[in-house]
Amino acid sequence: MKYKIIKDNNPKLRKKSEPVELPLTKEDEETLDFMLFYLKKSQDEKYAEKHHIRAGVGLAAPQLGISKRMFVIYYPKNENEYVIYQLVNPKIVGQSVKLAALANGEGCLSVDTNHEGLAHRHYSIQLKAYDHFSKQNIIINASGYDAIVLQHEYDHLDGILFYDRIDKQNPTQPKKDEVIIP
Ligand code: NI
Repeated sequence: MKYKIIKDNNPKLRKKSEPVELPLTKEDEETLDFMLFYLKKSQDEKYAEKHHIRAGVGLAAPQLGISKRMFVIYYPKNENEYVIYQLVNPKIVGQSVKLAALANGEGCLSVDTNHEGLAHRHYSIQLKAYDHFSKQNIIINASGYDAIVLQHEYDHLDGILFYDRIDKQNPTQPKKDEVIIP
């Protein structure tokens, strides 16, 4: 296969990625479409089991060893609605002082080992990007789980992994006024 997910022992995951030229090249479009395809398939239980892959809700280009500022998000929002983005050159333009973390910690398709603890993030963010899925520049206002997923993927573009955000001294201790999301 042309694309392969690299793991956190690969120094490429720790690099700061480069901005993407717009309009997108065919190759970048293909990468974005593959990332969406992969996430969809990863959430199909039968397919995932057969191919020994884990379910993911987000995937960033650096996780394919491609050092470009783009990532894809795909997960169900409710019974008949999905959160779907194929973001290019995202920029976080606003963030809350209030923090948030997932109660059960975070996971990552590039991290096979268990890292227990709260990954501290901003409770809400505003993000600007070009979205290949809707073919337009968009502004996303996200909070809670949605904001955490966006920040996790955004971090990949700067070579940051979720466990970098866990306090090694007090891994399970919430910050002051932090929202813990079940
Ligand atoms: Ni990740």
